[in-house]
Amino acid sequence: MIDKKLEAALNEQINAEFYSAYLYLSMSAYLDTINYAGFANWMLVQFQEEQFHAKKMFDYLIERGGNVTLTEIAAPPVKWDGPISVFQATLDHERMVTKRINDLVYLARDERDNAVEVFLQWFVSEQVEEEDTAETLLGQLKIAESSPHALLMLDRELATRVFTPPVK
Ligand code: FEO
Repeated sequence: MIDKKLEAALNEQINAEFYSAYLYLSMSAYLDTINYAGFANWMLVQFQEEQFHAKKMFDYLIERGGNVTLTEIAAPPVKWDGPISVFQATLDHERMVTKRINDLVYLARDERDNAVEVFLQWFVSEQVEEEDTAETLLGQLKIAESSPHALLMLDRELATRVFTPPVK
């Protein structure tokens, strides 16, 4: 049976993962509106990944005999200032999520719940990848900024991204 404090914190993180999904879905819609179909596709895959994160935590909480409490998801922004601002917001958001995951790890340690700590390690590694990818794409967008041709090439490249559920 999981401790109540950890149960509440994991429920909050489930909500945060769904918010991330919602945010990336909103970014996808915006990018499509400004005709970057490839970037929009990349965000759509991001939306799917975040739902996977939420469901992974949801399943774990049930496995540990906890109660899942789904709560209201806040509305994300609907407009940005072009692709660079979208990817900057993505990187900022992922850095914030990393902090949240780290705080969860510290809480699991305080509560002396080794199993939760081990479970969270998957998310710790995932955040390293999430930040690295967002940082790389932001850097590439900055390089391509002054060249419409380079920007469209990058857009075409990101159109190929597909969601592959991570091996559990
Ligand atoms: Fe669920 Fe993008 O971290």
